[in-house]
Amino acid sequence: MVNAKWTMSTLDRHNDAARGRLVKASQEAIARAAETLRAGGLVAFPTETVYGLGADARNGEAVARLFAAKGRPRFNPLIVHVADFATAATFVHLGEVGERLANAFWPGPLTLVVPLRAGAGISALVTAGLDTLAVRVPAHPIAQGLLEAAAIPVAAPSANPSGRTSPTRAGHVAAGLGDKVDLILDGGPCAVGLESTILKLGEGCDGAQLLRPGGLARADIEKVLGEPLLDAEPHDRPAAPGQLASHYAPAKPVRLNATHVEAEEALLAFGEPLPQGAKACVMVRNLSRRGDLVEAAANLFQYLHEVDATKAKGIAVMPIPTSGLGEAINDRLGRAAAPRGGLPS
Ligand code: TXA
Ligand code: MG
Repeated sequence: MVNAKWTMSTLDRHNDAARGRLVKASQEAIARAAETLRAGGLVAFPTETVYGLGADARNGEAVARLFAAKGRPRFNPLIVHVADFATAATFVHLGEVGERLANAFWPGPLTLVVPLRAGAGISALVTAGLDTLAVRVPAHPIAQGLLEAAAIPVAAPSANPSGRTSPTRAGHVAAGLGDKVDLILDGGPCAVGLESTILKLGEGCDGAQLLRPGGLARADIEKVLGEPLLDAEPHDRPAAPGQLASHYAPAKPVRLNATHVEAEEALLAFGEPLPQGAKACVMVRNLSRRGDLVEAAANLFQYLHEVDATKAKGIAVMPIPTSGLGEAINDRLGRAAAPRGGLPS
């Protein structure tokens, strides 16, 4: 058995180390973070979706450290973040459809998987050797400030240990990755709270394929496209670990579409009235009392973190509609509830 005293002091040391790296995102801190990225370091930063763990996308060693910090299998390609459309266009061929979507939704929670330009200089670890690249222009002012100051393409998966719930606060990053990160920029809670929607475009497919539902709703995209999004073919999916069955997982078991709660469970509620047993259960967190899916998305990962930290034996989740952002919320909850033990991502 592990000596409890040793464990405590080790934890304290880790927490101290993590605290030293967590800084409020002032101008000065952003400049320091940009330097850290340019020097090959790892910086966690807020975006409007979730916190990202960034590394210089041209620097294979930095990207390798990023994979190691997350404990993520190497064959999963990463999203590259840039400050604007013009910068994105230097790395990829956006095509007519890509330009139209970028004009409509960048900066914002949309990632486009498009053909990589020859000689773009992106590390093959970022693309996992594919000839496509996932790019996104985040809207968060701190992410924007960091990308402008660093003036490099920044590969950034969500800043959580592989397979765990995504971070929507700087404290989640410190708790999950702690001293594996060189700097954590604290920009408060993320407004959207769900990862970006990922579309695959161009060559070989007629329309846009939805690889991952996310912070931008399907209907908004279809309005701009003028046609329905295609669902990704199974053979297009191995590259998208968001598609792995168990993902975004809390430590506790998750029970979906709950119409009652047991006393030993915690409840993730949506709207009102609450189901039978809610009064007596371990904890209730309501994603949105008024049944608003945008509010529910913003609260999802924070509340998952909170109910997971209780002594409840499991997490019961009320049914959530599938319209608008409900598609992505149900996708994440479905993966949180999936049997564990598959490949982490
Ligand atoms: O909101 C977000 O997208 C956040 C913030 C930090 O920007 N980032 C994020 O990254 O969720 P990550 O690495 O956790 O998810 C990236 C997803 C994965 O499912 C990956 O497989 C997919 O993008 N992806 C990246 N490049 C791809 C490619 N070339 N083809 C297909 N899928 C790709
Ligand atoms: Mg992730």
